[in-house]
Amino acid sequence: MNAPPNIVVVGSANVDLTTFTDTFPRPGETIFGREFHLGFGGKGANQAVAARQCGARVSMVARVGDDLFGEATIRNFAARGVDSTRVTITPGVSSGVAPIFVDSAGQNRILVVKGANDALRPADVDAAGDLLQQADCVVLQLEIPLETVYYTLRFARRYGIRTILNPAPGQALDLAEVANADYVIPNETEAEALSGMPVRNLDEARECAARLLASGLRRVIVTLGANGALCAGPEGARHVPAHVVEPVDTTGAGDAFIGSFACFLAGGCDEAEAIARANVYAALSTLSVGTQMSFVALERFQEAWSNSGTG
Ligand code: RIB
Repeated sequence: MNAPPNIVVVGSANVDLTTFTDTFPRPGETIFGREFHLGFGGKGANQAVAARQCGARVSMVARVGDDLFGEATIRNFAARGVDSTRVTITPGVSSGVAPIFVDSAGQNRILVVKGANDALRPADVDAAGDLLQQADCVVLQLEIPLETVYYTLRFARRYGIRTILNPAPGQALDLAEVANADYVIPNETEAEALSGMPVRNLDEARECAARLLASGLRRVIVTLGANGALCAGPEGARHVPAHVVEPVDTTGAGDAFIGSFACFLAGGCDEAEAIARANVYAALSTLSVGTQMSFVALERFQEAWSNSGTG
């Protein structure tokens, strides 16, 4: 890669409360879970940390609550080397939290309470305008108000800054606003929410991407878990196979993909290579538990990339 790319994430920061269990209590019932982990999460923060681990310079634009989790989140950014000068503590609000349940197949179910993330407004984006204007890439998700997401996309387009939108958690969106993003990267369920058609396999992902492009989106990458990723643009679609592993916990793998993809693309890789690298980086994150704490260091990625047969 060339000089470290400069990435700004406008998005969420949560604290993840992860319980490992195969059974769920019925109303009024108490049962035992297997194990518990407390860690830093939030799709925005996770993507920022993944990009940083892959070598980017990263700044976060976010809001946290005036509670223990808020201060700890800011300390975590500092420890991870992510610039948090535009992370604001919001009085009278809780930080974002995410109770997460992971089963023995490594699959997760996540409940997000947005808390202070919901207070991130266009004025916060304006206040970080100097940072955004220096960015090689701005990365967004949907755990902050949609108004702020759309505003940031318009701001970036006005200044010619490349943007990546991860439309997660999935919901129906104003596609005319989304069309301001250079890349839209949903997983299967998010692609379904965006397009209104089911996405259960590669063929449906292809059809969905074609439909989204016809609606005005510029480039679409549908991430397909164990099936890799489908990348589509005006020139057609291309499938990039996954890096095959036995997952322990898939939580945050999508964020590992987005953050690392942003870093590799903005760092000078061509799109196909950036996707192939991000597939490997995301797969490695599923080999241990947690979200940010499962994101590997650059050296570990480089070793796996060299041994992958693609690197
Ligand atoms: O994508 C995983 C993330 O979703 C978790 O870290 C959780 O906080 C939610 O935002």
